[in-house]
Amino acid sequence: MTASFPRAEVVIDLSAIRHNVALLASRAPGAQTMAVVKADGYGHGALEVGRAAVEGGATWLGTCSLGEALALRRAGIGVRLFSWLDTPEADFAPAVAEDIDVAVSSLAELARVADGVRRARDFSGLNAIGRVHLKIDTGLSRNGCPPAEWPALVEAAAAAKPFIEVVAIWSHLACADDLGHPSIDAQAKRFDEAYDIARAAGLDPMRHIANSAAVLTRPELHFDLVRPGIAIYGLNPVPTDDDLRPAMTFKSSVVLTKRIPVGESVSYGHTWTAERDTTLALVPVGYADGVPRTLSGRMDVWLDGKRRPVVGRVCMDQLIVDCGDDEPAVGSEVTLFGQGDSGEPTAREWADKLGTIDYEIVTSMYRPRIHRTYLEAGS
Ligand SMILES: Cc1ncc(COP(=O)(O)O)c(C=O)c1O
Repeated sequence: MTASFPRAEVVIDLSAIRHNVALLASRAPGAQTMAVVKADGYGHGALEVGRAAVEGGATWLGTCSLGEALALRRAGIGVRLFSWLDTPEADFAPAVAEDIDVAVSSLAELARVADGVRRARDFSGLNAIGRVHLKIDTGLSRNGCPPAEWPALVEAAAAAKPFIEVVAIWSHLACADDLGHPSIDAQAKRFDEAYDIARAAGLDPMRHIANSAAVLTRPELHFDLVRPGIAIYGLNPVPTDDDLRPAMTFKSSVVLTKRIPVGESVSYGHTWTAERDTTLALVPVGYADGVPRTLSGRMDVWLDGKRRPVVGRVCMDQLIVDCGDDEPAVGSEVTLFGQGDSGEPTAREWADKLGTIDYEIVTSMYRPRIHRTYLEAGS
């Protein structure tokens, strides 16, 4: 409890990130670990999470865009960085110059990376080289090279030496969190075929395909490098009993309490009416801070050691908690979701109520009004 508590705050426990990365790395002992920190570290802060992940044993960090990777490099991250999806006008020259590995799914993309290498050599020296990971589409049908075009892509990449070094071939799984789904084996088979073709073209690439679910459940798919994302944040996409610790807690505080008589209604639309005299606590977070309005009347918060219901509609900037005959002090801490150890709601609970996944809940906590703080920031 504190009077200076920010109105909307996410607290990121970096010791949980270190713990989770170490646990995941221990599940894949023959592989290196790439911690996926795209989308600002799934809403947790890419740089802080990236540093903690490296302390936990990650030797690579993965991002979606070149901008995300360059920001990490320029902030002093020294481990290998891999970036996998940009728009066609992306300039690969800075990525090459700053030692960022990039994904290639097509001949056109390969040509753009080679062009980036030529320009990078003008300003960073003749040794600049484009380190590429060729992506085979094994069945997700998102990005990645279709199998029919794969032989031409590997031949072209092999011939592009010394501008291009093929570091790896890689792919992404569609249903790894659906244990035993037949697509997993089908994708693995296509991945093997793609590898054989790459070898026949004279390449000797690493292989990587495993996301969090596959790290935890499919050891035969770990290959040389694993790419866990959600599990490093402590959210387990599969029903295993691994000791992952959620890293994010979403908090606010009580700014006002008031007693209302039976029959009084609460918030816009008067969707809730007190059935007895009760005390309400006002909490200054709302849908502008990432509390979905569709959780109105369907969510609890943790306040003074108890779960208590949010009553009436969640507004843009505030919500109201029914405290019965309890009188929380102004300034009392309110947990909207957290690790769940004490009984407080979790991001998974929100996701289940909303019909979505906890990935979306934590990622949407990256908002200008939400203050982010870090616990145990390390040395
Ligand atoms: C290419 C790629 N690899 C790895 C991951 C990590 O997946 P997860 O968060 O399910 O572990 C993602 C996330 O979507 C991804 O896009």
